Amino acid sequence: MPDQTILTPFDLVVTDGLIVNASGSTEGTVLIRDGRIAGILDPDAPLPPHKRQIDATGQLVLPGGVDPHCHVGQVLGEFSMLDSHAQASIAALWGGTTTIIDFAIPEPGQNPLQAVYEKRKAAQDTRTDLALHGGVVAWDNTTRDQLLSLAELGVLTVKMFTTYRDGVMAGFDTIEKVMEVLADLGGVAIIHAEENHLVEEAQNYERENGRGDSRHHALTRPEAAEAAAVTRALGLAASTGAAVYFVHQTTPDVVDLVADARSRGVRAYSETCPHYITLDDSVYESGRPELFVCCPPIRSATAMTGLRDRTIRGMVHTLGSDHCCYSSSQKEKYSHDVTSMPNGLPGVENRMTVSFDTLVVRGGMSVENFVAMSSTNPAVLNGLRSKGWIGPGADADVVILDPTMTKVISAKTHHMNSDYSPYEGTEFTGWPTTVISAGRVVIDDDGFHDPGPIGRQLFSKAQLDAVPLLAAPAVGGTQTMITRFNKEELLA
Ligand code: URP
Ligand code: ZN
Ligand code: ZN
Repeated sequence: MPDQTILTPFDLVVTDGLIVNASGSTEGTVLIRDGRIAGILDPDAPLPPHKRQIDATGQLVLPGGVDPHCHVGQVLGEFSMLDSHAQASIAALWGGTTTIIDFAIPEPGQNPLQAVYEKRKAAQDTRTDLALHGGVVAWDNTTRDQLLSLAELGVLTVKMFTTYRDGVMAGFDTIEKVMEVLADLGGVAIIHAEENHLVEEAQNYERENGRGDSRHHALTRPEAAEAAAVTRALGLAASTGAAVYFVHQTTPDVVDLVADARSRGVRAYSETCPHYITLDDSVYESGRPELFVCCPPIRSATAMTGLRDRTIRGMVHTLGSDHCCYSSSQKEKYSHDVTSMPNGLPGVENRMTVSFDTLVVRGGMSVENFVAMSSTNPAVLNGLRSKGWIGPGADADVVILDPTMTKVISAKTHHMNSDYSPYEGTEFTGWPTTVISAGRVVIDDDGFHDPGPIGRQLFSKAQLDAVPLLAAPAVGGTQTMITRFNKEELLA
């Protein structure tokens, strides 16, 4: 009896590329059927029946990007971000990201559960798969039960901000209580770390001295404020036993604090963002400093270089975009007063390319390590087991990336609903040429093929403790290195 699973044509075969997982690379053919990866064939094996073949000669075949830090359509104070889930997810697909993790941060009058329900409703038009981080602002006598309900709904990662007083700031007493519950649930505390009183002192001092505008934004949120909050949160993670994940780390010092805590057994993780490893605080001397206002701020060239070096050395676990879709006129409105400005930069579309260029092409980091940071580790840390790897049983989210393709980033050609880009006019190398999401080819040489609102809402699966975190591999060894000087040779 012939094996029907072999005789039934595969939906898609991806041939002749270098398949790169965080754990290693191989040449071969990726077989895709019913939205999943059915197998990987030896490169010389005859092709089984298939409906479509994509030739990836000379290109990298990577697991679809998983963006662990994306604010979509969020309302923060006076300002609403300008994108729908449809818009953000389409931009993400153009950039090679096939899974977005968004935030359900309670707005005034909402509790954490309501925030998740509202976000899930709003996200129904997403084209990528989507998971949510929950959020807690203030502890009350319902919070414990709310966290248990969130876990049942598949939300095991909970964001808390140590800053933005009178907004979304949670006190360290709240953070400690939430960590205690998360430690029992196997969840993760997601922390925006800036010690608020140090931020406010700096803001007041700079304002009194005529420097309260966006040109002086970096002075108003000092590195010491970030280090102080990271230190306190690490202490609470150690005493409660909770896992803690620091979003958008901006300095070498805070990455070292996390590494030190890990060496003492604390389950602590570092995320950084493309803008913190590519831009330095000279952007605030440009003609439009407000366009670069994000929290924490873009740091000095020394800090940026130190952070980038640690990232290349495998000390940072994930790359998040911290995507915030504002327009230049929203940013301009309070450019004279950074305490009132909308913070954050548009970035979901360019996370993969900007990081690939910076870390792999220029920095010499291995492609495996890039996959770990941009896809595998965000998936593992968020309990998304079918994401972040290419192998039998994984979701068929695949990005074919040309490591030699060079293009200029511009708001004129990007797909995010923002009229500016922090990288306007800059050339980057390493672009997706084909993007496959749940087995569908959504980007190819002919452009975008809209799959419609088919994105799934993902549930974080059970105890994260049960999932081994892939340690980001060190640079070197047998890994795939692509630099400006050897990429043609390596891919020949
Ligand atoms: O400046 C930023 N990062 N804005 C978005 C909210 C946050 O702090 O993550
Ligand atoms: Zn933040
Ligand atoms: Zn953020």
